[in-house]
Amino acid sequence: MRLLSAVLVLALGATAADARPIEFSTDAPARAGALVLPLASAADLEARGRSLDPAVRAAVARALASARFDYKAGASLSLRGLSAHDEIVVLGVQPERPGALTAVDLRRLGGAAAGATAKAEGRVALLTEGLGDPAEVAVGAALGSYRFADYKAAPRPQRPEPLVVVAPTAAGAREAFQARGAAVAEAVAFTRDLVTEPANILYPEVFVERTRAAFRGVANTTVEALDAPAMQKLGMNAILSVGQGSPRPPRMLVVEYKAPGAKGPPIVFTGKGITFDSGGVSIKPGSGMWRMKTDMAGAAAAVGGVLSLAKSGAPVHVVAIAALAENMPDGAAARPGDVVRAMNGKSIERLNTDAEGRIVLADATAYAQSRFKPAAIVNLATLTGAVGQALGDEYAGLFTRHEGLASQIEAAARQSGEPVWRLPLHPSYAKDTESPIADIRDIAEGTGSAGAGVGAHVIAFFADPETPWAHLDIASVAWIDRDSPTAPRGAQGWGVQLLDTFARAFDAGAAASRGD
Ligand code: BES
Ligand code: ZN
Ligand code: MN
Repeated sequence: MRLLSAVLVLALGATAADARPIEFSTDAPARAGALVLPLASAADLEARGRSLDPAVRAAVARALASARFDYKAGASLSLRGLSAHDEIVVLGVQPERPGALTAVDLRRLGGAAAGATAKAEGRVALLTEGLGDPAEVAVGAALGSYRFADYKAAPRPQRPEPLVVVAPTAAGAREAFQARGAAVAEAVAFTRDLVTEPANILYPEVFVERTRAAFRGVANTTVEALDAPAMQKLGMNAILSVGQGSPRPPRMLVVEYKAPGAKGPPIVFTGKGITFDSGGVSIKPGSGMWRMKTDMAGAAAAVGGVLSLAKSGAPVHVVAIAALAENMPDGAAARPGDVVRAMNGKSIERLNTDAEGRIVLADATAYAQSRFKPAAIVNLATLTGAVGQALGDEYAGLFTRHEGLASQIEAAARQSGEPVWRLPLHPSYAKDTESPIADIRDIAEGTGSAGAGVGAHVIAFFADPETPWAHLDIASVAWIDRDSPTAPRGAQGWGVQLLDTFARAFDAGAAASRGD
């Protein structure tokens, strides 16, 4: 079985996707495949379009007036035959709310520029003078030009010519991008790749291999993985019970990054890593079940967050714990009604084998707690369909009992453009999940309960109430079926940017303040 999968991986191994490289320059090239000109108003053309020949500038002005270009973010107009460039692309950059462009606006602009010129031949020049930090624009361009290295037989097109970010501060921007922005974009791409990979290719052991490969040579990091016997020894019977219906055994993956000089206990990012969620014996309906290949998005974001911080040498101490298992129906699979004991000795009655995320996270949380005595635990999981009913795909659900941690996560979410909306952890969920024969039940039976909150409550049951703990339910944001400037449809890599921003600004003292 193992051999067969290894052969399949080799036979189907995708080659690396060729994204457009990003470069920086102080000068706009007189000729390029495409020249991208972001404008917030007609007057902007005089300033940012300064490098254009006056006759060309006048022609652009006429075209904008005649097209009634509205300069709003998202507007775009392609003009051909006006200059030595194949194409001049004007992009609107008026933010929704008046004021200076934020880092999120700048990333969206970079992504929009990459999107509008995706098919351009030759170099792409993007004029950014006077808009804000060009390194942020570059991050957006890198995020927006992500493509999954697919399995199509057709040969891949050649590596495209670079996108050149043009700014008077090009040297500083290049440095800032290389020091941090490039790491964020690479980590997001890593996470998107893992989420997109089908489950016949990516199962727990392969998730571990991909992680080892990504961290090879990255300073101050360690990658270790507990196999099933090691988990048995530690008493991780909860995650083992989720994996027992699959021939692909579970793994508990631990990735640590400790900057030299970083003091104190780490922040631990725990992540749900179900490489395929069929529901198990409580099997899911067939329609749309394929999407459950993405049920490891929380684990991929947790590892991606550490990768981003480590590759950029951030002055932090962080750990990702990925609870990896495949949830399959089988003669050996867990049954509804089974009782399992997690590694901290607490027992769980499993009424529905499709509520498997909270079960694997029980062990991940208990392990994070006992091994690292963390300053905070932030969990990410595609945990419930219910969170999408509440919030749609605009927000991830945030659950925490620690006010200080809540505000730090909310701030990081705003700054990174990965918004969260806080939902309650009502004390009544404890009653709803009482079991007559175990310490807790996995679900609240019957209708009328808050599905996402009950799931969060079950995970929180395995954290020490004194440890700042939060859970992000990313079920409806991890995979989105429409394009956005900074992500093509599909895997978003949601959470990597948030975790990177959050860890850098983390204040352990403030996080520990309790609201209740
Ligand atoms: N992985 C699913 C949740 C999910 C649903 C993620 C849709 C992404 C898109 C999770 O394991 C699950 O099956 N949850 C159940 C919980 C129920 C059994 C209490 C659900 O949401 O229906
Ligand atoms: Zn699941
Ligand atoms: Mn499930």
